[in-house]
Amino acid sequence: MRVLLVGSGGREHALALALNNSPSVTFLLVAPGNPGIAAIAPINPVSADDVGALVQLAVAQRIDLVVVGPEVALAAGLADALAQKTIACFGPTKAAAQLESSKAFTKTICEAKNIPTAGFATFTSADQAIAYLGTVKAPFVIKADGLAAGKGVVIAPDLQSAKVAIHEMVDGRFGGAGARLVIEEFMTGEEVSFFALCDGKRAVYLGSAQDHKRAFDGERGPNTGGMGAYSPTNHATPEFVQDIMARFIEPTLAAMEKLGMPFCGVLYAGLMLTPSGPKLVEYNARFGDPECQVLMARFEGDLAQLLMACAQGRLDAAPQFRLSDQTAALVVMAAQGYPEDPITGSEIRGEVGASAIQRGVLLHAGTRRDEDGKLRSAGGRVLNAIGLGPNLQAAVDTAYQVVDALDWPMGFHRRDIGWRELSRGG
Ligand code: AMP
Ligand code: GLY
Repeated sequence: MRVLLVGSGGREHALALALNNSPSVTFLLVAPGNPGIAAIAPINPVSADDVGALVQLAVAQRIDLVVVGPEVALAAGLADALAQKTIACFGPTKAAAQLESSKAFTKTICEAKNIPTAGFATFTSADQAIAYLGTVKAPFVIKADGLAAGKGVVIAPDLQSAKVAIHEMVDGRFGGAGARLVIEEFMTGEEVSFFALCDGKRAVYLGSAQDHKRAFDGERGPNTGGMGAYSPTNHATPEFVQDIMARFIEPTLAAMEKLGMPFCGVLYAGLMLTPSGPKLVEYNARFGDPECQVLMARFEGDLAQLLMACAQGRLDAAPQFRLSDQTAALVVMAAQGYPEDPITGSEIRGEVGASAIQRGVLLHAGTRRDEDGKLRSAGGRVLNAIGLGPNLQAAVDTAYQVVDALDWPMGFHRRDIGWRELSRGG
């Protein structure tokens, strides 16, 4: 099978390793990739949102399956354009990707299917949104409706900061994404990222992970795309998995099919384990980053064949796979200034290559290799250190050994990945 993988993050580096290790894959091409990916597969500089050029590339390279990493490609309609050329695509159509690209859309599905989620109201005017604040209690959860790279959520402790956030969103801090905003009930509890592979009709549970959203240790600082992760999580017992599949994932798939937008790809439910049970924080229409990396570190099977079965609507005929009993932990190394204003161009020394996710490896995200052969930062989240081990403590220790072997003074990372689980005894 000839596979084109779209994206350039740590998520795609992990997917590239797993696809490369799939017996069914005869050729793997990645666009646009990154220097870590370039060490294991050919890369092509076409950007992830250039649908026309990606389709051309897929046709020219006689690609059998396109695997889409980032949401920008989905929202730009890559799956739709590939369907017109009858090229199989793992990733939803633009319409189905609304589960991620519109929070208001997802809320209507939750209402229709009784899927537990925070109470909410939707607004297009700042004045109406501010008037509504008077009717609910602080803290206020204010969300831009559209895509904002995981950064379109403000949790405002008081009325004053809520007003500022509303004005910023309506006045375009998030481009078009804030034109409509959602104000939600504030929920409390631990979060779990839950992943199901879907073929339009059927879904199969892939695995769960815990993300670490805040920039700094002790859950302080701004929300980010994710600063670290581990898998498995102790919450994901077989009963829990069955319950989430039955009450969240399957009704959502049924609703999407009925709307004429069958969902094919990975449905990522961000769940909060509240005192009154699990509730949906959000859906994403793609693998999580960094959660994907810890799932792929444990994945055993032919990933390409499995994703092809989803793309062809044939999950019933999918090959067997499992996640190993090992624990995987991941530490994100970000450029100073992330998430607001990361400083790029700083040199990173002491890097080691990754040919497979072994005990401890480094995955690339926002890196670039300059003509002088040096590795430099080129984005916000720059590198991922992964550790694998028989338990969380061992996995975390190995990940930090990878971090500490690196010489990158202009980067920062969290030192407390896995703290919740470890404080319960790991
Ligand atoms: P989202 O982009 O919707 O996943 O939100 C990002 C993060 O904001 C979540 O992972 C939560 O930590 C937090 N968050 C979002 N919605 C709520 C809510 N209703 N109550 C409390 N925290 C929330
Ligand atoms: N790690 C969170 C996300 O991928 O959205």
